[in-house]
Amino acid sequence: MSGPGNSRPVAIAGTGSYLPERVLTNADLEKMVDTSDEWITSRTGIKERRIAADDEFSSHLATNAGRKALEQAGLTADDLELIIVATITPDTLTPATACYVQQNLGATKAVAFDISAACSGFLYAMKIAKRLISDGAFENALIVGAEKLSAFVNWEDRSTCVLFGDGAGAAILKRSEPGKGEILATDIGTDGRQTRLLNIPGGGSACPITIANADQRLASLSMIGNEVFKHAVTRMRDSANAVIARAGLNPEDIKLVVPHQANLRIIDAIADRLAVPNDRVFVNLHKYGNTSAAACPIALDEAHRTGRIEKGDHIVLVAFGAGLTWAAAAVRW
Ligand code: UT7
Repeated sequence: MSGPGNSRPVAIAGTGSYLPERVLTNADLEKMVDTSDEWITSRTGIKERRIAADDEFSSHLATNAGRKALEQAGLTADDLELIIVATITPDTLTPATACYVQQNLGATKAVAFDISAACSGFLYAMKIAKRLISDGAFENALIVGAEKLSAFVNWEDRSTCVLFGDGAGAAILKRSEPGKGEILATDIGTDGRQTRLLNIPGGGSACPITIANADQRLASLSMIGNEVFKHAVTRMRDSANAVIARAGLNPEDIKLVVPHQANLRIIDAIADRLAVPNDRVFVNLHKYGNTSAAACPIALDEAHRTGRIEKGDHIVLVAFGAGLTWAAAAVRW
């Protein structure tokens, strides 16, 4: 999906991220399930992940990341007009996690809602917020990817529990000037035929958790990993190529690709297919695992704060997740 409506440029004015303190290493997991550091490292690249405290929810992670993004953008909570939280691990089914974030920040003027697009959610939120700002409906937006996946993982299932972690990443979008920083192109897509490949089957209206099924752990992530893997590589390649072309860029113009952090082998395969050298691809999954909607914005914030992205650079963000969903954005910083 793409289209016109870019009359008013919209830029990323600030980024922020937050990771819970508790670290869960591959060695820790070796004591919990039949796995090994060697398997996890060679199949995924993950070495450790963060786990939120019992009283730390997705909204808390989102709020902490949002505060840092606001500070970097030079805005206060009072200035905020729109908050979109992308999450598949909301604090509650309703109200939206974004409402708790609005309350935590004291951003009383902001309209707040969630979107559910799994690992692609942050880039879906970017597309929505960009259009709403570009159309003149809002002056600025806080977009956040926030997940407490540890609450939705079956800690006895080695095929999934080694992969995921908790965290949040955020960005402030606001109106820009022609020739300055700008989100140049966005792409989002969905293939609902593949819902069976990656889902949380229980806890929704299709399968409420009851006393009768409570022992089946249906409110946890279920994935056919090797099938998801193949879709991930082709969809992210195509989505990234689409935004590079729409932005009028060539692969050699891209200073940094910031991909979804699910698996190092997927990231390497995408770099290869995009003809972008590995040193222009940002990787931090060894520290945090797969944090779903939070992965792209956490990576973006780390890349920005460590000087890997500078004013005028062209970058590409690209993600893929349950749905199946995929998304990409080409940005001039
Ligand atoms: O973020 C949303 C999108 N998600 C993704 O993009 C994830 C995509 N998929 C993947 O990253 C990979 O498919 C995984 C990392 C999930 C799995 O890697 P794989 O190379 O596709 O392995 P596999 O699922 O084909 O399993 C290979 C073997 C199996 O054993 P057998 O049947 O060959 O004897 C599994 O039982 O590895 C076994 N296995 C494990 N062994 C040790 C699965 N999990 C583990 C484990 N430790 N944790």
